[in-house]
Amino acid sequence: MVAQAKDPITVLGIETSCDETAAAIVTRLGNGHGEILSNVVRSQLDLHAAYGGVVPEIAARAHVELLDAAILQALAEAKLGFDGVDAVAATAGPGLVGGLIVGLTMAKSIALARGVPFIAVNHLEAHALTAGLTDGLSFPYLLLLVSGGHTQLLIVKDVGDYERLGTTLDDALGEAFDKAAKLLGLGYPGGPEVEKHAARGRASIKLPRPMLGRPEPHFSLAGLKTALRHEAMAHAPLSDETIADLCASFQEAVVDIVSDRTARAIAIYEKLLGADAQRVLVVAGGVAANQRLKAALEKTAREHDFRLIVPPPALCTDNAAMIAWAGAERLARGLSDDLAAPARARWPLDPDAPPALGAGVKA
Ligand code: KG4
Ligand code: ZN
Repeated sequence: MVAQAKDPITVLGIETSCDETAAAIVTRLGNGHGEILSNVVRSQLDLHAAYGGVVPEIAARAHVELLDAAILQALAEAKLGFDGVDAVAATAGPGLVGGLIVGLTMAKSIALARGVPFIAVNHLEAHALTAGLTDGLSFPYLLLLVSGGHTQLLIVKDVGDYERLGTTLDDALGEAFDKAAKLLGLGYPGGPEVEKHAARGRASIKLPRPMLGRPEPHFSLAGLKTALRHEAMAHAPLSDETIADLCASFQEAVVDIVSDRTARAIAIYEKLLGADAQRVLVVAGGVAANQRLKAALEKTAREHDFRLIVPPPALCTDNAAMIAWAGAERLARGLSDDLAAPARARWPLDPDAPPALGAGVKA
């Protein structure tokens, strides 16, 4: 279905792909800039903390319980009724299918009842386009997406036009932080815990830096995690001081890996797009909250004459404002979806990307 895009466009966005139940209202103005009218996130963190990770069944059930109230709150904060919404966008993938179906069914129902367009949003595209909402950034730019589920380096050429340069062969970066925290007996989510303990430790324990220097900017983090486990076992029982040193050593290894892989992606970006292309590196996803990593990427960007943009933490981690914005960007280009659009556990942004090295590659 081709939508009748009117200017400005106000979109209700719904996000239920993982463990945040989120609803938001965003207006895309005629000049292409965005305005967030509301951004409601109901985290399910407490429900999953005891398990050290997200439990899909619990997540899906919690979305059912939390979503109505999140949508009503988003409308109330935006001071709008359903009649003020021009379209409804929901995450259709990638993610946990049970949760996706909850958000999609809600979005489709509202769109059908109100007679407005429905947009099935790719969660990764929403992360990729967020800098357009927060900074009015134009295309193209280089994106480093680092979250609990994703680790990718992509060229964002336009809405719907992505070239994947690098991905992870095994664990995602946030997942590696979470697993590191778990094996050191720290809380969940692990990233903030590891960062906190690292701040009072020394990076004195030798850990590997897998993939460093490889020509393609892929990542592999499983070996680092295994090496950390061996070091933790060798130092057992762990004192507070050793835990801090292990965290600092792990974080420094991650920083070296990400800086190296990003520098490699910058070189490829320059080669593919030419020296005149816009020189901007955007970092998105929950791991972008790590201050040590951010400082290192600031340095990498500066060394290559790139500008670094890191959207504010609330828009880097999972939220529905980015879903509403991606929906508005698509609708403004005449794109909307059929109510039969399915939930998709996997949905790569660049389906033509050649397979990365090794097996078990996450798209
Ligand atoms: O984007 P996000 O909120 O959710 C998705 O995974 O989609 O990212 C959550 C991930 C978790 O793995 C968490 O441990 C990590 O981001 N994270 C961090 C930090 N804060 C959150 N990792 C490293 N340092 C942090 N300060
Ligand atoms: Zn995400």
